[in-house]
Amino acid sequence: MKLAILSRGPNCYSTQRLKEAAVSRGHSVRVLDTLRFSIDLRKGEPDLYYRSKHLSDYDAIVPRIGASITYFGTAVVRQFEQMDVFTTSASAGISNSRDKLRCLQILSRHQIGIPATTFVRERKDILPAIERVGGVPIVVKLLEGTQGVGVILAETVQSAEAIIQTLQSTKQNVLIQRFVSESRGRDIRAFVVGDRVVAAMRRTAQGQEFRSNVHRGAIAERVILDETYCETAVRCAQIMGLRVAGVDMLETKEGPQVMEVNSSPGLEGIENCTQLDIAGAIVDYVAAQVDFPEIDLRQRLTVSRGYGVTEIHIPAGSKFIGQTIDESGLPELDINVLTLYRGTTVIPNPRLKRTLEPEDRLLCFGKMEVMRSMVPERNRRKRSPKVKVLSTDVPTHETTP
Ligand SMILES: Nc1ncnc2c1ncn2[C@@H]1O[C@H](COP(=O)(O)OP(=O)(O)OP(=O)(O)O)[C@@H](O)[C@H]1O
Ligand SMILES: [Mg+2]
Repeated sequence: MKLAILSRGPNCYSTQRLKEAAVSRGHSVRVLDTLRFSIDLRKGEPDLYYRSKHLSDYDAIVPRIGASITYFGTAVVRQFEQMDVFTTSASAGISNSRDKLRCLQILSRHQIGIPATTFVRERKDILPAIERVGGVPIVVKLLEGTQGVGVILAETVQSAEAIIQTLQSTKQNVLIQRFVSESRGRDIRAFVVGDRVVAAMRRTAQGQEFRSNVHRGAIAERVILDETYCETAVRCAQIMGLRVAGVDMLETKEGPQVMEVNSSPGLEGIENCTQLDIAGAIVDYVAAQVDFPEIDLRQRLTVSRGYGVTEIHIPAGSKFIGQTIDESGLPELDINVLTLYRGTTVIPNPRLKRTLEPEDRLLCFGKMEVMRSMVPERNRRKRSPKVKVLSTDVPTHETTP
């Protein structure tokens, strides 16, 4: 295949390793500076120029987009998507995972453990917010901090308020998060490629430090994650629209709590710690998937007028409970069930013989008008619009139950 790595740092470890891995597997590979693209838009022909020359055909890209160039970088990736070039991270996935709030907002509707978190603006909303996440101690976080900078532990309500107000007075957006004390000074980085975790490490802070960032002296060790942790990490990546992702989790008695998902996870730390060839795993995955570029459902579905993807919820007491999908009459109404969500289980392409249970959620494709009538009036009023076209947080490919 012909692969492009989008990176501003041709000599950085991750870029070098990806390049090496591609070359050693006989692929053609180039490192392209993300900021040297020109995006050309013309009717029916999305196109790209690189260093003002027409870009030749590529089979796949691996974007490594730093936080400082998110806008332009995601625009370039979006252009490759319009040109049906396979990418390891969807442009929307990069944007969605870029700040901690947006990432947690998207994850929060799914059955994925996250630390209780709130986001407030007004001074008078701070105290109630601290109480809602369980009271002090709490963690105060800048939305776009990295390497532990902007992650502060507040032991008392007074210090929490003072920290939040100080940060807000400098126009910084901050999150208030429950301090997960069981995991003090430790976290897990799971490295996801496709639909599996290819490597994982536990980072442990030294001394009194509660932040387990390697830049703050934390020590990393290889770990083999159990099924729950692996599944959580893989689902997070899928929900975000990332086929390569670094998922950071805290360990608790109730299982993993996801702090964030990184769209350009570094390779150096994890390869050194685990001695695994992660660059190779990424390149092999891309080579196997290159014929299946990401499809943005929302863009494509609006083409067939009146049709869309919506989620139908089966509440307790629904007449559909105990019926099979076939008996429910959905197929007759020309509604296809794409995925069934049952608790933490995701069942892609459920069989018509499958019986519906209370609280099932069905991701369906069909005529919007018909599907709208499937949602009870009460439900529609409670949370309108309950029936809606799901956007980018539709998993792109599913884990088996
Ligand atoms: N809610 C929490 N409870 C306990 N410890 C936490 C919590 N949030 C963060 N930590 C600790 O602080 C460290 C840094 O937090 P986090 O990863 O959210 O920010 P960051 O490392 O600055 O950002 P990035 O991971 O994007 O570089 C974590 O690795 C973890 O050890
Ligand atoms: Mg971190």
